[in-house]
Amino acid sequence: MGVITKLPQQVCDDCAATTNDRDAAPRCRACGGLLSLVHPPPEVRGAALRASFADACCARPSRTASGVWRFGAIVHPGAVDDAVSHPEGNTPLIGREAIGAWAGVDGLLLKHEGHNPTGSFKDRGMTVAVTQARRIGARAVACASTGNTSASLAAYAAQAGMTGLVFIPEGQVALGKLTQTLAYGARTLMIQGDFDACLRLVQEAGESLGVYLVNSINPFRLEGQKTIVLELLQQLDWDPPEWLVLPAGNLGNTAAFGKALEEAKAWGLITRVPRLVSVQAAGAAPFAAAFERGFDHLDTLTPETLATAIRIGAPASYDRAVRAIRGTDGLVLSCTDSEILEAKAVIDRAGVGCEPASAASVAGVRKLRAQGTIKEGDRVVAVLTGHILKDPGILQRMHVEDGPLSSNANRPILVAPTLAAIEAVLTSLDR
Ligand SMILES: Cc1ncc(COP(=O)(O)O)c(C=O)c1O
Ligand SMILES: [Zn+2]
Repeated sequence: MGVITKLPQQVCDDCAATTNDRDAAPRCRACGGLLSLVHPPPEVRGAALRASFADACCARPSRTASGVWRFGAIVHPGAVDDAVSHPEGNTPLIGREAIGAWAGVDGLLLKHEGHNPTGSFKDRGMTVAVTQARRIGARAVACASTGNTSASLAAYAAQAGMTGLVFIPEGQVALGKLTQTLAYGARTLMIQGDFDACLRLVQEAGESLGVYLVNSINPFRLEGQKTIVLELLQQLDWDPPEWLVLPAGNLGNTAAFGKALEEAKAWGLITRVPRLVSVQAAGAAPFAAAFERGFDHLDTLTPETLATAIRIGAPASYDRAVRAIRGTDGLVLSCTDSEILEAKAVIDRAGVGCEPASAASVAGVRKLRAQGTIKEGDRVVAVLTGHILKDPGILQRMHVEDGPLSSNANRPILVAPTLAAIEAVLTSLDR
């Protein structure tokens, strides 16, 4: 199609050492820094580049049914024809009056990534990373995970016919994610430690055992995750909102969003960038704390939050995320678990639903609007990162069991098996 003629390179964020797009090293061989995929500028820009994404759908309908590979020319051009694709992406931008009203933002839009094949945004990165693993002949793929990455890895490894190996923190992964991972067939190691310990271990194991790492420091993962932004911009006819808000833990997604926006602006897909907002859980908010101090340094911590997907105290993509926030005049804030669960209850009751971590974005929107940072009339897109059924344990505590989370429970109603008993219930609901 002529959009891309040269392949991207992997470039070290710290020392600028370069390597080709088939190198399996998880980090820079010279200095240990993180690697980014740097694309040569596309040969067409602006409207022509935008049109090429639509043309891609017609040229290769099967592959471009994917909301990731439709943008393959600026994601992983060397692999478009061999993608391991479910397909994924093509997630809806949802507006619900009740949620906007609660957050104080008319027209609030939710980019619901829970509509991906394994129920989270991770599929967008995983299709690219597992495609890359197969392309370079890796024998197995591995990751550390708070649950969603492992579920996604398991599904894509199964599709590719590869061994999947996941490291998860014992007792800290939501039931939906753990059982998905097992069911799709990944070998699952429950580590007696937190996510940060899992990430350290999987990196050591990767290097010594020759397993291809697909954590979010993997540059190909981030390329796939860029398409959340590209797709939502496309859905908005390339007219960006003022604000783009997402939950943040290990900061891979914040980094991917920043890269997507930087490239979209540089290549004329958009003429201005939205302000990026990363929202953390108050008990796991090292990035928000660093932001308050002008990003002077990162203090890692022992994380604690009910939003297990973002229960991370030593975010691996910190430097990249700082660049993303600075480059978009963005913000970082934190919300308490009760603010997050209040937002989740509103999202759930509107019939949309999401897992706890996802609701952090909407809780953050409400806070920024209440303090006047988000202005009347600003257009806001908040990303919901995972599906409501990912964490049935929290739903059980909110609606079935008695306890601190059940103050607004919608309890199941025990009824005798008679029409009269059901009529009595309906009459009581009418009141
Ligand atoms: C549902 C959900 N939301 C948000 C995040 C945070 O993304 P990141 O770790 O890239 O900041 C994760 C990461 O696991 C997640 O699973
Ligand atoms: Zn380096």
